[in-house]
Amino acid sequence: MTEIEQDWKSYTPGQHAIWRTLFRRQEAMLAQRACQPFLEGLKDLGVAADGIPDFRRLNDALDRATRWRIVAVPGLVPDDVFFEHLANRRFPATCFIRREDQLDYLQEPDIFHDIFGHVPMLMNPVFADYMEAYGKGGLKALRLHSLDRLARLYWYTVEFGLVATADGPRIYGSGIVSSKGESIYCLEDAKPNRIAFDLLRVMRTRYRIDDYQESYFVIDSFEQLFAATQPDFTLYYDALEGLADIEPGEVLAGDRILPASTQPTW
Ligand code: PHE
Ligand code: CO
Repeated sequence: MTEIEQDWKSYTPGQHAIWRTLFRRQEAMLAQRACQPFLEGLKDLGVAADGIPDFRRLNDALDRATRWRIVAVPGLVPDDVFFEHLANRRFPATCFIRREDQLDYLQEPDIFHDIFGHVPMLMNPVFADYMEAYGKGGLKALRLHSLDRLARLYWYTVEFGLVATADGPRIYGSGIVSSKGESIYCLEDAKPNRIAFDLLRVMRTRYRIDDYQESYFVIDSFEQLFAATQPDFTLYYDALEGLADIEPGEVLAGDRILPASTQPTW
């Protein structure tokens, strides 16, 4: 439908060089900051530092690990198409790479965000199932006119999620791992709130798309996230109708706040 060819041969040496730059600095940054499943997924995928990866090669590893598949798309796709892909274990990824002058910040997803950011976590069986369930839930939310609520869950987990570990919070959100500045900020800066994950709390919380997040939600484990999202959301959407939205930086009396990380170790 909206699927296209990646046309891997058409990338220029300069574009491969941009990938290498982004890859090398994130790899160093994330060794102590990303969660173990992300780092393992990255290693097992073989998304190497040598250049923009060919989707066909990634798909071999991905298919073997979790039966997911990357499909190339021309850019942001309509919500129904996006959910339909996820529900069928297909991850839509853009093919274009940012320009040299956009290394640090880009508002729309490019191939570095979509591949380096999202695909390593899809190598993890629990997270892979969560993403499929999210796609199915998205199709349902569309029918129930509750997409704004469900979109917040994606934002605060898939894109900007943190997970608790014995060594403190670690990153799994794609929007963070593909950003050098936010990888440090989300863990080590005193400013943002790090709040223990609570499903309805998250679905009530507005988010910002133009700057680092003011609040991050911290899951205990991917099993916790998967279990919390299993119930039929129809009743949750009804309940949310009567509840006010929460501002991005707001802290509520019931929130469990986690401390900033004592990183870095170097
Ligand atoms: N259980 C949710 C529903 O009934 C679907 C869902 C699963 C949403 C996992 C997000 C993540 O709508
Ligand atoms: Co993304």
